[in-house]
Amino acid sequence: MTDEFQAHLAKSADRVERVLEDILSAEAREGETERPERLLAAMRHAALAGGKRLRPILMLEAAALFGRVDQGVPLAASALEMIHCYSLAHDDLPAMDDDDLRRGLPTVHKAFDEATAILAGDALLTLAFDVIADDEVHSDPSIRLRLSRELARAAGIGGMAGGQMFDLESEGRDRSEAEIRKLQAMKTGALLRYACRAGAILSDAPEEYIDRLTRFGEIIGLAFQLADDLLDVEASPEIAGKATGKDAAAGKATLVGLFGVEKTRAELNALLGEAEELLAPFGDKAAALLQLARFIVQRDR
Ligand code: IPE
Ligand code: IPE
Ligand code: MG
Ligand code: MG
Ligand code: MG
Repeated sequence: MTDEFQAHLAKSADRVERVLEDILSAEAREGETERPERLLAAMRHAALAGGKRLRPILMLEAAALFGRVDQGVPLAASALEMIHCYSLAHDDLPAMDDDDLRRGLPTVHKAFDEATAILAGDALLTLAFDVIADDEVHSDPSIRLRLSRELARAAGIGGMAGGQMFDLESEGRDRSEAEIRKLQAMKTGALLRYACRAGAILSDAPEEYIDRLTRFGEIIGLAFQLADDLLDVEASPEIAGKATGKDAAAGKATLVGLFGVEKTRAELNALLGEAEELLAPFGDKAAALLQLARFIVQRDR
């Protein structure tokens, strides 16, 4: 990754960080009665303590590809990031993956307690829908409605939450390649797909381009989980910021488990090639999105 691109990523992450900081401030939003201090602290721990911010950055870049760069975009992107952060807080719970370390810090239930971690996840999830409905996200309410319905579907039973169910049900069981691909497209792919798709929707891109960005998001989504599964095998907890070497021990259904490291890496490179092809019609304008795709494939944390 070039220094220039790294600085660009840091700047985008910072834009999102500032919006999240504002949304998760002590001050109650209009219509809220009060923000319980402990719950807010746990939500802030889940959402503000590190994180690569790849989903919101993907949304920012997808929107920028079609010319939209104003503050409405990081606002929508923050809604998505809050859902991602809630999913991690719940994923780490003892009843799910039972992890103690996340982003180099204690997981939410370790820093607080299980009940508070559950509530922090609930409140981040619901706050995300408050935020995506904000006027600033898009002047046209029908677009805001579309964004919020699609966000619900990406996060819910047919998306992330459903994929997490398949993930848990698959522990210690034989799963076919097709089943693992479906599970991963849902638990991880759905939110990454949404990031790319929503960026195009936010910019009023033509449907044909929304579809193209959607396919790009699906490829990136699969690549992202393959890279995560490789990290579980190859990375140290110090670098990854979370426990590694756990998937095989927990009997998780992963393509790395099925194919081995070599074949998984080859698939990752093939996916990168597909992503490049999809963005070819945009020429140089898609340079940042492609760099992001490369980063996702080659990342070490
Ligand atoms: C980790 O996501 C969970 C998966 C979906 C594999 P990230 O690697 O994006 O986690 P953060 O947000 O950077 O901590
Ligand atoms: C989590 O996948 C996907 C989510 C929806 C949170 P993992 O369980 O592999 O993510 P890590 O490795 O804990 O970050
Ligand atoms: Mg998990
Ligand atoms: Mg996990
Ligand atoms: Mg993992």
